[in-house]
Amino acid sequence: MTKPLLFELKNAPQLVRGLFREQSIELGWFERRRFPDGESYVRLLTPVAGREVMILCTLDRPDDATLPLLFLAAALREQGARCVGLVAPYLAYLRQDRAFHPGEAVTSVTYARLLSSAFDWLVTVDPHLHRYAELGAVYSIPTAMASATGPIADWIRKEIPDAVVIGPDAESAQWIDRVAARAGVPSLVFEKDRRGDRNVVILPNGIDAFPGRTPVLVDDIVSSAGTMIECVRLLKAAGSKAPVCVAVHAIFAGDAHAALVGAGAARIVTANTVSHPSNAIDVGDELATAIAAILGGESSHGN
Ligand code: R5P
Repeated sequence: MTKPLLFELKNAPQLVRGLFREQSIELGWFERRRFPDGESYVRLLTPVAGREVMILCTLDRPDDATLPLLFLAAALREQGARCVGLVAPYLAYLRQDRAFHPGEAVTSVTYARLLSSAFDWLVTVDPHLHRYAELGAVYSIPTAMASATGPIADWIRKEIPDAVVIGPDAESAQWIDRVAARAGVPSLVFEKDRRGDRNVVILPNGIDAFPGRTPVLVDDIVSSAGTMIECVRLLKAAGSKAPVCVAVHAIFAGDAHAALVGAGAARIVTANTVSHPSNAIDVGDELATAIAAILGGESSHGN
């Protein structure tokens, strides 16, 4: 049987090794460059007619990545690919899931519509599902999700055996419980009130409940790092050991990483869904399993 072709547009390097370890995938080649005026040029070098194809493109800084992604997907379809899937270890534009103020664009819906029209299926890792119960609420193509909770729990069990796992807000409860149970350590979930892009107020419920344990903050995304910084500040003020910060997606806008170090985080580690020096937790196997499931026809179907 012909192997699926993978075109690597934007990636965290370790991930591809994981994918190739687990599956029979062949690498597809293409040329990409910019014209002097900044427009994108894309040219396929591997024939794709009749082939099952996927593009690997993590979607941090999505505004720069999306147009080349759509051009590549269109070229694959136009040149006869049997189906074109998207492997986006980090999936952007899920946070604006409603109009919080009159006149706001609900970008999660528009972005999902755009990707759903360009691809036949989508695989991602721990998408930021808050008010959406599942990706199918906005994506109309089959989707499959991998999760970093297992690898994060295994990392915590090995590296911080005296941890108390802490989620910064109610949304994080969904993965905090799983991480703590698998790591065999206790957990807490704080409450968060977001007052602006970089302004959050945290209610540190139960902050004194596990004296002597090392606080390990676990969140899905670190973007401005405002959430983690406020948690670190509260934990230090309460006399805790220096907290360890763990996140799935290392977005780290601007100087966010330096600011979190400056706030007093003992260590900062992330999964390798977005390439960053803090990457220490490999989700390649989980992603490979999700891709195998969708290629084998096991997926959630959108509306
Ligand atoms: C919240 O809704 C997410 O789970 C993260 O807590 C949030 O995206 C982190 O953003 P920031 O680093 O900008 O506080």
